Amino acid sequence: MRVTINQIKEMKQKGEKITMLTAYDYATAKIVDEVGIPLILVGDSLGMVVLGYETPIPVTMDVMLHHTKAVVRGTKQALIVGDMPFMTYHISVEDALRNATRFIQEAGAQAIKLEGGVTVADKVKRMVECGIPVMGHIGLTPQSINQLGGYKIQGRTSEAAASLLRDAQALEEAGAFAVVLETVPTPLATLISQKIGIPTIGIGAGIGCDGQVQVIHDILGLSDRVPKHAKQYVKLADITRKAVTEYYNEVKASSFPTDKQSFTMDESVLTALKDK
Ligand code: KIV
Repeated sequence: MRVTINQIKEMKQKGEKITMLTAYDYATAKIVDEVGIPLILVGDSLGMVVLGYETPIPVTMDVMLHHTKAVVRGTKQALIVGDMPFMTYHISVEDALRNATRFIQEAGAQAIKLEGGVTVADKVKRMVECGIPVMGHIGLTPQSINQLGGYKIQGRTSEAAASLLRDAQALEEAGAFAVVLETVPTPLATLISQKIGIPTIGIGAGIGCDGQVQVIHDILGLSDRVPKHAKQYVKLADITRKAVTEYYNEVKASSFPTDKQSFTMDESVLTALKDK
């Protein structure tokens, strides 16, 4: 049985911290799931960390569904959240519903995430009415990077802070089960977390959020650049480079494979073949 949105909401009521991590493929998702992380986000950050784009903007529905299916196959207990790509939920409520449905019906996700607050509240409301759990995402919203003018801290002026609080409240009113707060000053994220009833999941939003989300490549040391909000728990790029170098050297030196990685056969079969 997978984690449910009610269990996630109850965690906030009980004061239990919520852990969320991204995953984009079967093998990684399996590890994250086995650890017991209750929320896995198939984020459109895969555009950068897996596909090598500069922003998430080129990521399409088909790409997201492909990766979401792999993550669903690799997991048993986590609630899988599919990230709706750029412009797949803005054109109309119908369009947003159709695309959200694909995450649930085709890919097997249990929820979707979308960016925006007040401006997408009508879509969130309709999705929730149709039985699709929605996670909001406000603050630094990477799909709007061209509009925001860069990766900047959000909500620092009184106007921007009030607007973020309004966005969080609009998402809660529309029925979202949780909201991601990205790159928001700690005191503001803490206040928003106290003022709304649904869990806040922070990324660069400090310790006062109800939970935390990170991009898995950042915490494993696989990203080109480590954002300030991330902590590298291991340097997997260095470990991988060392292993690949050893493999390269052993093949060149004919010390791989050894008998241990090879297969034998009946000598007579070979002799008969040589005589032909
Ligand atoms: O795409 C993503 O990974 C995200 C997280 C950073 C919240 O949206």
